[in-house]
Parts: sequence; structure tokens; C-alpha cells
Amino acid sequence: MKTIHLNTRPIGTPQLSDFNLVNEDMPQVGDNEMLLKTTYISVDPYLRGRMMEGKSYIAPFELNKALSSGMISEVVESNLDGFKKGDFVSGMLEWKEYQTHNGEGLMKVDPAQASLSTYLGILGMTGLTAYLGLTEIGKPKAGETVVVSGAAGAVGSVVGQIAKLLGCRVVGIAGSDEKVEVLKSEYGFDAGINYKTTGDINKAIAEACPNGVDVYFDNVGGEISDGVMFNLNRFARIIVCGAISMYNSTSLPMGPRLDSILIKNSALKQGFIVANYMAKFGEAIPKLAQWLQEGKLKSTETIVEGFENTPQAFINLFEGKNKGKMIVKI
Ligand SMILES: NC(=O)c1ccc[n+]([C@@H]2O[C@H](COP(=O)([O-])OP(=O)(O)OC[C@H]3O[C@@H](n4cnc5c(N)ncnc54)[C@H](OP(=O)(O)O)[C@@H]3O)[C@@H](O)[C@H]2O)c1
Repeated sequence: MKTIHLNTRPIGTPQLSDFNLVNEDMPQVGDNEMLLKTTYISVDPYLRGRMMEGKSYIAPFELNKALSSGMISEVVESNLDGFKKGDFVSGMLEWKEYQTHNGEGLMKVDPAQASLSTYLGILGMTGLTAYLGLTEIGKPKAGETVVVSGAAGAVGSVVGQIAKLLGCRVVGIAGSDEKVEVLKSEYGFDAGINYKTTGDINKAIAEACPNGVDVYFDNVGGEISDGVMFNLNRFARIIVCGAISMYNSTSLPMGPRLDSILIKNSALKQGFIVANYMAKFGEAIPKLAQWLQEGKLKSTETIVEGFENTPQAFINLFEGKNKGKMIVKI
């Protein structure tokens, strides 16, 4: 069976040579263990941070060992109470075609309730990040203007849809005209900005937000976010969820000094890590599931086929090749 190791720590944009496809013997199932066959692998921008050394909120990957991420697997053999052959589980697992597991930290998922990949997207970390970041820090009120960057991606597309459900004016920033069109036609955003063709992002945001910006859900950081900052309203809330525009930077550019904007507007800017809100997952997931079932939320996925294509699918995130959640199907 195959497994994917981190071969070298990427410098700048990750390359296929940073990963290594390795053959390993099939694992033997012990007592109180089950054998899992990988079905879906989630590739996520935050994995880029784990490929670097250094202290963070989650330990770095080790070289020459399998990477891991959110995955869905099928139980193919079980010596473990509570799990039987044919069950599907979701959780943090290793990039291996097969692996044994003691079940700790895994959750059973039901393919009859929702398609399995959804548990990695809108009913998994993606949906939780969007819902909890927006409601716990952003606290949007009906009639307010919400701006979201990375708007056509996994988290951003859900943030925008939820903000619309809460009665807000929603403006999305994304990297192509096609994506901007999807924001409006598929997800009901009020306006969209293509940051790659807009010469003056500050002005484009001002035009798209005639009443200013009350909530900014930031997935990208950098110059796009600077542009939003210059359009903040008093008591604006900024959710700093991601900074993908800087994940591959080898040195960070100096941006404008924004502190006085926060002071002038009594604005709140807060970093967000979804894992800090675990206590709220139990109430958030049924809400997301209900909206999904009622057709009020649309789930978009970009599916790449083949275990060995997992590194390429990950690299593609940095080229904007996904719409919605990027998932590898085995
Ligand atoms: N804090 C947390 O707990 C948490 C949890 C989940 C995700 N996140 C963060 O949230 C953000 C979105 O994650 P996701 O899973 O939803 O990924 P995603 O948005 O589905 O995929 C990444 C997208 O980022 C955009 N992008 C790539 N390079 C960019 C650049 N230089 N400048 C601007 N945009 C760029 C691309 O879209 P375009 O075509 O529009 O450029 C790409 O499609 C990431 O920063 C991630 O790290 C944080």
C-alpha cells in the first residue's frame, strides 16, 4: 500500500518534490484496533504552516513520515467495540491508503445523512470555521455589510452564504471573473471583486460597500486586507481566519500602519482558530446540516481523484484551482 511522506520542508511555493510516495507493507490489525481504508482526504491551506519548523498552535510535520489531515475512511476489519466493518469514520488520519487505529478522536459518519465528502467540508472543519468565526467574533447584524476574502473557496463561500441568511449585505473578493460570477449567481452575494484585475483594491471595496464595512472575514491577509481596513465602519469586527497570501512568503513585505484605523473606529480585530471553539461544535453542526438540507446553503467541492494526486491537489490551493472545498477521492 502507498503512503505520502514529507520529503523536504518547502521553501516558497510547495513543489511535488517536497513529497514522497512510499510503498509500505499492509498493517496488521491488533486487539482493540480496526483497519481503515482511506476514502476521502481533505487538503487545506493550514497544512502549509505544519510543513515548517517552529512553534505554532499545532505541531509541525516530521520529515520522512506520513502527513496527516482531516480524512474519511471505511472500516474494513474491526477488533474494536463500537466500530464494525462497513462503518465510515471522520477525523485526523495519516496520508496512507490503509491504517490501523484505536478509534480515539474519530467520529462515525453516516452516508445516508449526507454525502461522505460533505463531512470534510460544510459539515466539517470548513463549515464550523465559517459559522463560528462569523457568529462568535463577527456577530453580524441584519443590514450590516460583511466582506469576505477568499470568497469562492471552502470557508469563504460558506461565510458569505451564512451572512446572507443573517440578512447582511455581502461582498466577496476572489481571484477570477468566473469565481466572482459564481459568488453572485450561486451563493447570492450582493457584489464581488476580482482582486487580480482590480487596480485599486481600496477603491473597489469602497465602491462595492457604499455604507462601509462592518464585518471583515479575512482568509487571505496582505494587500487585499489592507484595502478592506481603509473602509471600516465604527465598531467593525475583523475575523483573522487565514493569511494564505503570505503562507509561501520567504520574507514578509512591510504594509501600511493600520493601528490608527482600529483606534479611530473602535474596531475589533481577533485571530481565530476553529479548534478553540470545540464546545460549540455540537450546536453548530445541526444548524449547518439543517440549512444544507433545506437548500439554504450550497456545498461546492472540487474533487481530485487518486491517492497519489494528494500533493498536487494541495499545491493547487495556492493557485486558486479550487471552487469550494478541495478534496481528494481515493
Ligand atoms: N483559523 C482556522 O481555524 C482556519 C480553519 C480553516 C481554514 N483557515 C484558513 O482560511 C483560509 C481559507 O481556507 P480554505 O480551506 O477555505 O481554503 P480555500 O479558500 O478553499 O482555498 C484557498 C484559496 O485561496 C486563494 N488564494 C491562494 N493564494 C492566494 C493569494 N496569494 N492571495 C489571495 N488569495 C489566494 C485561492 O482562491 P482565489 O482564486 O480567489 O485566489 C484559493 O482557491 C486559509 O487561509 C486557511 O488557512 C483557517
